[in-house]
Amino acid sequence: MATPQKETLGFQAEVKQLLDLMIHSLYSNKEIFLREIVSNASDAADKLRFEALASNALYDGDPELKIRVAVDKAARTLTVSDNGIGMSRDEVIANIGTIARSGTREFFQSLTGDQAKDARLIGQFGVGFYSAFIVADRVTLVTRRAGLPASEAVRWECDMSKDAAAYSIEPAQKAGRGTDVTLHLREGEDELLDEFRLRSIIHKYSDHIGIPIFVGEEKANQASALWTRPKSEITEEQYVEFYRHVGHDFDAPLAWTHNRVEGRQEYIQLLYIPSRAPFDLWSREHRHGLKLYVRRVFIMDDAEQLLPGYLRFVRGVVDSNDLPLNVSREILQQSRDIDAIRAGCTKRVLDLLDGLDAEKYAQFWREFGRVLKEGPAEDAANKARLAKLLRFSSTRTDAEEETVSLADYVSRMKPGQDKIYYVTAETFAAAKGSPHLEIFRKRGIEVLLLHDRVDEWLVASLTEFEGKALASVARGDIDLSKVEGADPDPDWQVGEHAEVLRSLKEALGERVKDVRLSRRLHESPSCLVADEHEMGGNLARILKAAGQKVPLAKPILEINPGHAIVKRLQPGDARFADWAGLLYDQALLAEGGQLEDPAGFVKRTNELMLGLGQSPR
Ligand SMILES: Nc1ncnc2c1ncn2[C@@H]1O[C@H](COP(=O)(O)OP(=O)(O)O)[C@@H](O)[C@H]1O
Ligand SMILES: [Mg+2]
Repeated sequence: MATPQKETLGFQAEVKQLLDLMIHSLYSNKEIFLREIVSNASDAADKLRFEALASNALYDGDPELKIRVAVDKAARTLTVSDNGIGMSRDEVIANIGTIARSGTREFFQSLTGDQAKDARLIGQFGVGFYSAFIVADRVTLVTRRAGLPASEAVRWECDMSKDAAAYSIEPAQKAGRGTDVTLHLREGEDELLDEFRLRSIIHKYSDHIGIPIFVGEEKANQASALWTRPKSEITEEQYVEFYRHVGHDFDAPLAWTHNRVEGRQEYIQLLYIPSRAPFDLWSREHRHGLKLYVRRVFIMDDAEQLLPGYLRFVRGVVDSNDLPLNVSREILQQSRDIDAIRAGCTKRVLDLLDGLDAEKYAQFWREFGRVLKEGPAEDAANKARLAKLLRFSSTRTDAEEETVSLADYVSRMKPGQDKIYYVTAETFAAAKGSPHLEIFRKRGIEVLLLHDRVDEWLVASLTEFEGKALASVARGDIDLSKVEGADPDPDWQVGEHAEVLRSLKEALGERVKDVRLSRRLHESPSCLVADEHEMGGNLARILKAAGQKVPLAKPILEINPGHAIVKRLQPGDARFADWAGLLYDQALLAEGGQLEDPAGFVKRTNELMLGLGQSPR
């Protein structure tokens, strides 16, 4: 077989831009490159240990996993070597040659131009390896996959001083398995040739790494897995650095919880809540879940079975004493032991969220509130706990930021009020301006303004809070007669309007289920409401947009008998049908719906306006 010769391959177009940005925004904290290279070496050791469970021969007489940092002062190079899993040629191209495998476009879209913010995004983007270019202009990687012979090693090189848009890859010889990453330092970076300096960087950022890191002949870290150490012996900085390693995040975490659980299942959990949502939280390729270890041996990344989906933003480690070492994703899916661990992890995360101070919780909610809202539908057992954690916008402040808890709402309920009222709409503005709120605003009754798509699912599963039903202001009959400060009954009688209601219903035909007088409206002439047990307009629109079949539920048109337009409706009028259509279309628009015939609406409106101008006063 012909060995492939040296080849030069191109990066994606954006890579040069990405690297420049990274070098710029991270330069002030440049020593973190070592943390990133060491973190990869440690991951490589984990992966080897895992693969060796099935095939012990992979150790090939060299079972002591370690990392070495060596300097060559004459050549001005720094080399980080590991005897971990290594990479094949294809793996080098896939993992190193393609920066940030997925979501490049999303990433560039989320850049803001603000250096501090962008530096954070870069950290999330999985460019750890490329941080080497902060201090080096040329990086050489020589690697040999465990199990492959010495002659099948690969040499990769990228020289930024020449052509940053390309790298070379060629066959190489390497005596042992694993990876050597050599940094050819930039002018002015000579302090990195000092072993004492390197040891102090490692002590600061990489002390938590579970295998020894040697700088020269001296070990520079404690070399025990951080989560196995007693809490009292772990500093805050060490927790933060460990998070950066397991979470592949450059930012510090918002909070964490570390516990040794005993009982039916014995395991250690170290769970972190990130301080920012990753830019790809909603993308399908988003990596989620925790790292699973069994008796200190790494088993898998992204073990999504360990937490429910609505906690997919949590990062960290679960180390089980009981699971078998050969546990696979398939086994995890059915394992009862995993159910216990999952319940335990969920409880701890909810405890952690419960205990956050108001400021941290507000930050958490801004970043992950939308994900947590999936909780009540997914996790019935924790519904009551989750309900307490939810935050909403409300008519109390009319501010878009979600800060109102259900407990806040209940504490402000009016005497006699027995329901928690909400309105749903596609946007905040539509929710806030909804005509369904008029009577509530007039009476000073608070209404939650739900404007996330996920809110519809939330209220479908969360139907009550502490014995108070959640009720849509756009559904069924609204009866506020028992609420303190009730208006005297409006002075209208259905009888007086029976003729108008009947004629409107006739004019609107199939479009409505019924037409009735409204107890909700105060300023608007009309609104649409759903029958008590039927799907509301907003949810129907969301489902339709998602391509789902929606059962046809006709709305009820409610009209405001106090409104001038309604007052002048004359069933015998030649334009009566146009007026009826206008009341319906306006009600639909006001709740964020789409007109079936927008041009017809405009035409009718114009004709009616002209008619008004001409009519004798
Ligand atoms: N020393 C190494 N040994 C084996 N694989 C490595 C090594 N360094 C990097 N890699 C591979 O390159 C990928 C990219 O590394 P990096 O840019 O740090 O992103 P991340 O660690 O977040 O995946 C890693 O996921 C891994 O597959
Ligand atoms: Mg990395």
